[in-house]
Amino acid sequence: MSREATNLLYLITIVTFILALRFLSNPATARRGNQIGAIGMLVAIFVTFLQNGINSYWEIILGMVIGGAFGAFAARRVHMTAMPQMVALFNGVGGGAAALISFAEFHLLAPDPGGLQADISTSIMLSAIIGSISFSGSMVAFAKLQELVRGRPIVFPLQKTVNALLFGSVLAAGIAIAVGAERQWLMWALLAGASLFGILFVLPIGGADMPVVISLLNAFTGLAAAATGFELENNVLIVSGMLVGASGTLLTVMMGKAMNRSIANVLFGAFGQIAPSAAAAGSGTTDGQVRSATVDDVAVMLGYAHKVVFVPGYGMAVAQAQHDVRALADLLESRGVEVSYAIHPVAGRMPGHMNVLLAEANVPYPQLKEMEDANAEFPRTDVALVIGANDVVNPDARNNAGSPIYGMPILNVDSAQAVVVLKRSMSPGFAGIENPLFLNPKTVMLFGDAKDSIVKLAAAVKGL
Ligand code: TAP
Repeated sequence: MSREATNLLYLITIVTFILALRFLSNPATARRGNQIGAIGMLVAIFVTFLQNGINSYWEIILGMVIGGAFGAFAARRVHMTAMPQMVALFNGVGGGAAALISFAEFHLLAPDPGGLQADISTSIMLSAIIGSISFSGSMVAFAKLQELVRGRPIVFPLQKTVNALLFGSVLAAGIAIAVGAERQWLMWALLAGASLFGILFVLPIGGADMPVVISLLNAFTGLAAAATGFELENNVLIVSGMLVGASGTLLTVMMGKAMNRSIANVLFGAFGQIAPSAAAAGSGTTDGQVRSATVDDVAVMLGYAHKVVFVPGYGMAVAQAQHDVRALADLLESRGVEVSYAIHPVAGRMPGHMNVLLAEANVPYPQLKEMEDANAEFPRTDVALVIGANDVVNPDARNNAGSPIYGMPILNVDSAQAVVVLKRSMSPGFAGIENPLFLNPKTVMLFGDAKDSIVKLAAAVKGL
């Protein structure tokens, strides 16, 4: 295929990737975005296959068949709650692939005198370092989320110093390669050092901070791929790598903002460590009273309300209650109750977690209210039904300067007339702190699995 035709088709591919990102930014068009991106990827693979210099296709096809089959199987089987670890795994192999390509290119070009130009050796060193960090860091993230290793931050003395020294040595090896030290052992040392750094970098980060870390590692993989694009002089790889890098970085920043935490705090704060002060840093309102309600009490509250706002959280994902929640909403609407859903940007454990679940249950998009709009509606809401959410409705984030989540924007459910909280026990959420909302005189607790409670509530509302 001619260079012009290749570049034209690659340009089309790049446009489809940009369009895909545009469509992915809205739940109503996200599926279409995915399909457009997949078509673009297919075109890119096809065009790459037609390039000169591919001596043997069967290894590539074998790799694609194995990888494709694994990907399709995993994507169909994965539970929604396990999605973050699957993203970590897929992201990690992308970084690993970039590092391996760098190694192969180095192996190929380094022995030739003058074979390694400065621009190529710089790209090789960048994609080897960033790709290795992304690979091993993502594997640790996967292991933490899959509970193969302890999810809590794993810290040891002088950790930051060791990490800084290790990273400095990796960088020194990289610079040596970039300025022309064409030694194979240096490349091995760089790959091993960067992989070790990836492990040590992610170990001290709390398991529940992993989605932020995964998004950052995703950005790293994008950058590694872009650097690989420079090595291989492949424009589509450069641009798509940069798109991944930029969108991963933006997502990381947005998640940090939504939790009111700096990226440095996520990466180096060892958030989620067992700290006796954390619980104590709760509101200290342990002297309040928890009021537990029955299904029939809550059914009456819901059935005779004018306006009910559902507030889903991680517990709804664990219980897989989204379809029953939708059924309850339909039932209430058929009784003339106005229903909407308040979506906190970091409810659940991954970006868009609640949107994805509610989309799966075909909840009409106009009913989904983002935090700002939802907060404006709570004062005229009769019942805020909190379904397995905890931290994202914790008023300590607003009122208690000593709380670890102080400053995080929350859903102000306590400004509704009444609050019903569905959860199984008084256990804390991700941040590991008490929630004074549960002791608020406006609040009643309906204890039990969220799916179970919602099904029972629907039956009771039917019987009103
Ligand atoms: P959480 O604060 O984690 O609380 C979830 C609650 O759900 C728990 O208190 C738990 O209480 C309850 N629960 C669990 N299983 C349940 C079940 N089967 N039925 C009923 N309830 C169940 O959740 P949230 O309010 O959604 O907040 C998310 C947290 O994750 C925030 O702190 C956020 O900063 C953090 N985070 C989010 C993200 C993203 S991108 N979403 C990324 C990193 C961190 P019981 O055990 O008593 O039932």
